[in-house]
Parts: sequence; structure tokens; C-alpha cells
Amino acid sequence: MGNTQIRIGLLGFGNVGSAFIALLEEQRSAIAARTGLELRVTHVAVKDLTKKRNGLDSEIELTDEPQQVVTSPEVDIVVELMGGLFPAKDLIETALANSKPVVTANKELLSKEGKGLFRLADKKRVDIHFEAAVAGGIPLIRVLRESLAGEPVEKIMGIVNGTTNYILSQMDETGAPYDEALLEAQQLGYAESDPTADVSGQDAASKAAIIAMVAFGADVALNDVLFEGIENISSADMAFAKKTGNTIKLLAMVAQRDNDLEVQVYPVMLSKNHPLSSVGDSYNAVFVEGNAVGDLMLFGRGAGGMPTASAVMGDVIDSAFNLSKKTYRAMGTLEEVSLMKAGCQKSAYYIGVQVIDEPGVLATVASIFGDNGISIQTMEQEGMGGEARLIFITHEAEENQLEETLSRLSGLSCVEKLGTIIKVLEA
Ligand code: NAP
Ligand code: HSE
Repeated sequence: MGNTQIRIGLLGFGNVGSAFIALLEEQRSAIAARTGLELRVTHVAVKDLTKKRNGLDSEIELTDEPQQVVTSPEVDIVVELMGGLFPAKDLIETALANSKPVVTANKELLSKEGKGLFRLADKKRVDIHFEAAVAGGIPLIRVLRESLAGEPVEKIMGIVNGTTNYILSQMDETGAPYDEALLEAQQLGYAESDPTADVSGQDAASKAAIIAMVAFGADVALNDVLFEGIENISSADMAFAKKTGNTIKLLAMVAQRDNDLEVQVYPVMLSKNHPLSSVGDSYNAVFVEGNAVGDLMLFGRGAGGMPTASAVMGDVIDSAFNLSKKTYRAMGTLEEVSLMKAGCQKSAYYIGVQVIDEPGVLATVASIFGDNGISIQTMEQEGMGGEARLIFITHEAEENQLEETLSRLSGLSCVEKLGTIIKVLEA
């Protein structure tokens, strides 16, 4: 029996799209030998036809009209690697409406419009795959959708943004200040020239929303995710973390907390004994806690053309295989869940307070914590000669209690400045 021919329409020939074509060229015969699938890109849509394109076979039809690709009878599977909301959303909808399976890496689109797209894919009984949308080359989505489909997953916490992980790792390893580490990340091509979505935590929040949909079947979108970034983390914060056997990481946290689902992104102070603390450079890692399976950790490259193309390739093969068997993997329904609200979370906190170094100041500051029912775990003083930094690690407290404490502290005449507040993740 001959191989099954599958024709691919590719939307976008940028970092990931061009790497995908290069990977397919290199692996085509191995894929055919392993799967019986003959994969061929027939169409590529780009925005600017005048740009010089290397690595494009002359038999591939290059167009600036992506709508033609998603409706073409000569395309079996659509691979969307353009990014952004529009026209990507309309194109994916048209592809699905035409019963073409879709593979996409578009975290922004899925975190905002995933529910509607998943529903349409199920209605048309075709695949929508999106492994590359979360943690780049790490096979996380397939593990959650297939291997752990029957697992009572309790918590997923991940380093899912490579840019911020690079910045924090540099601050930890070399003592570099935030601005310098960010500049290095930009020079190395990890961060965009406008790195706002990365450093503000929004990129990780998109990924947290997608994880919540896949692992918990939760009807969650980017708008529902509370997120904080790393812009205010100082060298002093990182030095303190290091001195006390910790480091600081930006985590996407998706966890069942009694009746609420926590879907949030925030920096945490993490013990160097925790497996996620050793994930350095621009690497990503995701830690899964399941009731049956116990603890799992997946580690790898969260971005970059080739690692992302590798995830796209796995999805394309899966879709092609399902298409050849006239089957698909249903996304299922997303259920409304009670999301953990701001102010309700309990955590231990790291709090740095810049004060005037005078008699009685420590007692005044410490009493405010007690007044609001917050118990102090450790306290340390740094600096001398007129100014000092008091560093408190609290026992578990509610965010509401903390807000009240911070508000009262900032009203004290002896307090010059409140530093960054960071959750301390108890091991
Ligand atoms: P990119 O380098 O900016 O490439 C985008 C491609 O889409 C370009 O070829 C562009 O055409 C084309 N395009 C944009 N708008 C178009 C339009 N209206 N019509 C036709 N073509 C259009 O982006 P990328 O880095 O490859 O990222 C692609 C997707 O992968 C995004 O969703 C991104 O979030 C996701 N992703 C990327 C990474 C990564 O490491 N880069 C990692 C994970 C996920 P021109 O070439 O003519 O400009
Ligand atoms: N900007 C993202 C990161 C790219 O730094 O991880 C991958 O989604």
C-alpha cells in the first residue's frame, strides 16, 4: 500500500514558518517511513510578496491572499503561523468551516478566542492542535490532552516565558540589574524590541489560560487571568533570595484550591531545592502535580524557530494521521468554573521596606504586621547610617491582610519606600 499524501497550506513564513519548512525538508522521508504519511507544503501565505524568501521550493504557491489557502481544495491541513488576532481568527474559522484540520502556535488568539474555535472544530469534527502555543518545543499540551486525560490534575506551575526566565537567571547568576539583563535578552533576540507582553507577565498569562482550558476543561480566557510581571524586581531582592537559599522565578500557576481554580501569574521566591529553581537561561519548564501520577516535570526550549517548529510538526503529523483515518480528537466542552479572586489567596510574603534608621522604627513597623494579623517568620536589617532596609518574610497571610498592612506602612513617616512584594512558595 502506498503512502497517504497530505497537502499543507502554511499561513506565515517568519521565524517559525520557515523553520517548519526546513524541518519538513529534512525529515520528510523519515516521517514517511515511520508514519506512512507523505507531507507536502503546497501553499504559503505571507504579508509582503516582495521580501526575498530562502528555502521555498519553486513548486510551492506563494501568495499574499491567505483566504485562498484556507479555502483551496488542494489543501488538506492548515498551519497558522502568522500570529495576532486578525486575520488569523477568520482564517482559522474558515479552514475549520471547510473541514480542514488546523495547527496553530497562536497563544494570543487561543487565550482570547479559544472557546469559540474549539467549539467550531468539534462541530465540524476536525482537529485543532496547538502544542506550540504553550512552552514552545515542550510537549505539554499533548501530555495534558492525551497521557493525562484521565488524571486528576491538581496543580500545574510553569516557567512558560523564556525572556523573563533569561532576565531573572542573569540577575541571579551575575548580579546584573534588571535593565541590563533585559537589554541582554533583547540583544540575544529572546525579548522583542517592545518586551512589554513578556515582562508584564501577559504572555505567561495567555499560556496559563490555555493550560486551564486543556488541563481543567475550564472556560477561562486571558481577561480572567490575574498577572504580575518582573519589572519591579531589583538586584537587592535577588541578592536577598540568593543569600537565603532561594531564587526568584516568574510562574504561571493553575491550581485547584478547594472550590476555586487559581489561574494566575506572579513572581515567586522559590527554594533552590525546588526543581523549577534550576531552570536557567531562556529555558521553560512545567511542573505538574497529579493525584494519581504524583509529580512530573517537563523541561525544554520554550521559544525559537526550530524548537517551536518541532512542536508544530508533531501536531501536523497527528492531524494528518487522524485525517487519513477519518477521525479527530475532540476538544470537549469548557465548563464555567469559580475562579480564585484577587485578595483571597493565602501565601507567605517577602516584603522589603526602606526606612529611616532611628530608634523605635523597627518596633513601629513590626507592630503594623501584628495589628493586621500577619505573623512574621523572619526579619533582617540591611544598611546603616541614616537609612536601612528591613526585610520581612511573613507566615501565610491573606492578600487582603497584606494590602491593609502595606497601606498603613506607606502612611508612616519613618517609611521611605516600600519595595517589591514577592510571594514565597513554601517547599
Ligand atoms: P513572525 O516571524 O513575525 O512571522 C509571521 C509571518 O506571518 C510572516 O511571514 C508574515 O509575512 C506573515 N503574516 C503576518 N500577517 C499576515 C497577513 N495578514 N497575511 C499573510 N501573512 C501574514 O512570527 P513567528 O515568530 O514566526 O511567530 C508565529 C506564531 O508562532 C505566533 O503566533 C507566535 O506567537 C507563535 N510562537 C512563536 C514562537 C517563537 O519563538 N517565535 C514561539 C512560540 C509560539 P511577512 O514574512 O511577509 O512579513
Ligand atoms: N516571548 C515568548 C517567550 C516566546 O519569551 O517565551 C514564546 O512564546
